Formats: sequence, structure tokens, C-alpha cells
Amino acid sequence: MNGHGKPMEKNMRAVVIDRTGGPDVLRLADVPTPEPAAGEILIRVACAGVNPADWKCREGYLSRFMPYRFPFVIGFDASGVVAAVGACVKDFVPGQRVFAQTEVGAGKWGSYAEYVAVSQDCVVPIPDNLGFAEAAAVPTPALAAWTGLFDEGGLKPGQTVLVHGGAGAVGTFAVQLATAAGASVAATCSTARQDELMALGCDRAIDYRSSDIAGSLAAWAPAGVDVVLDCVGCGTLPNGIDLLRPGGILVAILTLVNGDNGPDSAEATRRGMRTAVAYSKMPGGARLREIASLIASERVRPPRIACLPLEQAGRALDLVQSGKAPGKLVLRIAELSNA
Ligand SMILES: NC(=O)c1ccc[n+]([C@@H]2O[C@H](COP(=O)([O-])OP(=O)(O)OC[C@H]3O[C@@H](n4cnc5c(N)ncnc54)[C@H](OP(=O)(O)O)[C@@H]3O)[C@@H](O)[C@H]2O)c1
Repeated sequence: MNGHGKPMEKNMRAVVIDRTGGPDVLRLADVPTPEPAAGEILIRVACAGVNPADWKCREGYLSRFMPYRFPFVIGFDASGVVAAVGACVKDFVPGQRVFAQTEVGAGKWGSYAEYVAVSQDCVVPIPDNLGFAEAAAVPTPALAAWTGLFDEGGLKPGQTVLVHGGAGAVGTFAVQLATAAGASVAATCSTARQDELMALGCDRAIDYRSSDIAGSLAAWAPAGVDVVLDCVGCGTLPNGIDLLRPGGILVAILTLVNGDNGPDSAEATRRGMRTAVAYSKMPGGARLREIASLIASERVRPPRIACLPLEQAGRALDLVQSGKAPGKLVLRIAELSNA
């Protein structure tokens, strides 16, 4: 059964790659529907979030971390309903609304498909106040923000944090999670996004195109900030260590882009500061549950989304890769009831 009382289809539609490379390696294919192994949940996918990691996965950037077995279904984030559960799964039932960061980063098939099998440790019930499309926009960026701020950055109530790239998906979650944790937050963004970030709880929105970031931040936190979270990377914040108070920490979200070497840890140590590189660690279920509870209590909300059909996955990846996406993109795969 597929979670809505209908028999499971033997094959499913999925966006796959047969080799790594540019946009032309993507194709829509019929592939076997996965079966949930012990401890796994088979999700009937309603929506798949589109992340920068998806085009990087297509290009082969993940080969440092996992073997690609072709054909390979890409896609980090899924929302949908439980279609079936494997042995030893107790807390989920067919038909339940769930979302997850899939295990595509470990070489398993991802979310650009009608079904995805994921370890139960990655899967979380969707809060009642989120639809499938918004839920699919949450896991990877929110988990990266959480790991960067709290696991690596050790951010505490009353501390100060600069979120570099506050208007991106990771950045908007970071601004809200830091605010909800009782920190004071400054963020860099373009002029057009400043009001939006202030409405999300930012104390100071710094225009990265026209402002002197160091000068604007010093006017807000003269002794430097406790944590800098760099959500953009690639040398866009060349003076990150200069922005810290003594003993502070610069955390860079791992971009996987060749030549992005992250912060200069030797210089930081020499000056009495610290650095770390953050990525969303698997399985993310425990952290995603905490994020879901902040969403349920309306202390955190997903970014503005725009939806495209699964058939336009290639276009979606081009828009994200070129920085022209009109918001956080989500692929609609099936119209499922919200019950
Ligand atoms: N390793 C991991 O586990 C992990 C997980 C999640 C994300 N990431 C990585 O983190 C990065 C961000 O991901 P995302 O999902 O947030 O991407 P995104 O939503 O596409 O973020 C794009 C945003 O970056 C901002 N930006 C671009 N250049 C900037 C600059 N020079 N200064 C300040 N802001 C700038 C833009 O802000 P404006 O609109 O204001 O111009 C834009 O809104 C990507 O490289 C992604 O691959 C890694």
C-alpha cells in the first residue's frame, strides 16, 4: 500500500543521473520503487526541496564523501506521507505526514522521486501549521544553520552573532534560530532583503553590496561578536576573523566548492580566536524535531517558496546555481491530501 490505501507501484518516476556533470546529465526516468529495509521508512514524496547541494551532487562534488551508484536519484529534502515501514519501525504509521533530510549524502537514492526510503532516525512528523511544500524547504538549510550556530558555534543566550548571507535559506533559518535562542543577531544581505530580515528578528541588517561590513558591525558590537556564521563562503567575507571578540569563533558552512578553503584556522589560533566548518550531520532527525517544534510554536518559519513540477528539476537547478531563483525552490511531485 502507498500510504493512501492504494497498491504500491512497482516502478516510480524519478530524476536521475547516469554520470556526474552539467545540466545535460539529468533525466526523468522510470526506476524501481525502493523497498524499506529494517529501520527505514518509505516516504511517498509530495514535495522535494531544491538545495545548492543538489546541483553540486549532480556535478560530482559529493564523490569526496560517498560512492555514486548509477542510475542515481538526486535530492536532499523530502516531505510527504509514510507509504510503508520496514521491520523494527515503531513510531511511524502509514499515511502520517513526515519530512526528512534523505541519506543522499551517504550514497542512497534521494528525494527527486515519487518515493524515497530513509532511516527512521532522519524522519520527523510535519508540524500541523506547515503544508508539504513549505515542509520540503526546511531540512537541509535549517539543519546546517542549527549545526553551525549551536553544535560548532556553541551560541548561548545573550551572545552576539553575525550571520553572513542572512537572506539565503540557511541564513534565514540561522537568523531565526539564533533569535529564538536569545542571542542578538546581525546579518548581511542585499538592500532589498533588509526589511525582511529585521522582521525575522535581526537587530542589524548590513547591506553587503554598499556597506563597509566591518564598520557597520563595529557600530553595533564594538568589542566584536561571539560567533560569525558564514553561510556564503568562497572568500566573500575576507575579514571574518577581524569581526570576532577575543575567544570568538568563525564558523563556515561547508560549500563544497573547489577552491573554497574555509577560514584560516592558523591565523585564528595565533590571534586567540577559533574556527570551525559546519555541515548538516546525518541522521538529522533529533535536531529536525527541535526545529519542527520551533516551527509549530511559530518562533521559526520557512523561507518564501516558489514551486515547480518535477519535470522542471533541471530548470530549478539552473536557477539555484545561477543565483536567480525567485525564493526557495520546491519541486511538486504528487498532490497528497494533508490529512
Ligand atoms: N555542507 C552542508 O551541509 C550545507 C548545507 C546547506 C547549505 N550549504 C551551503 O551553504 C550555502 C548557502 O546555502 P543556501 O541554501 O542558503 O543558499 P541560497 O538560499 O541559494 O542562498 C543564496 C543567498 O546568498 C546571499 N549572498 C550571495 N552572495 C552574498 C554575499 N557576497 N554576501 C552576503 N550574502 C550573499 C544572497 O543574498 P541576497 O538575496 O541578499 O543577495 C542569496 O539570498 C551553499 O553554498 C550551500 O551549498 C551547505
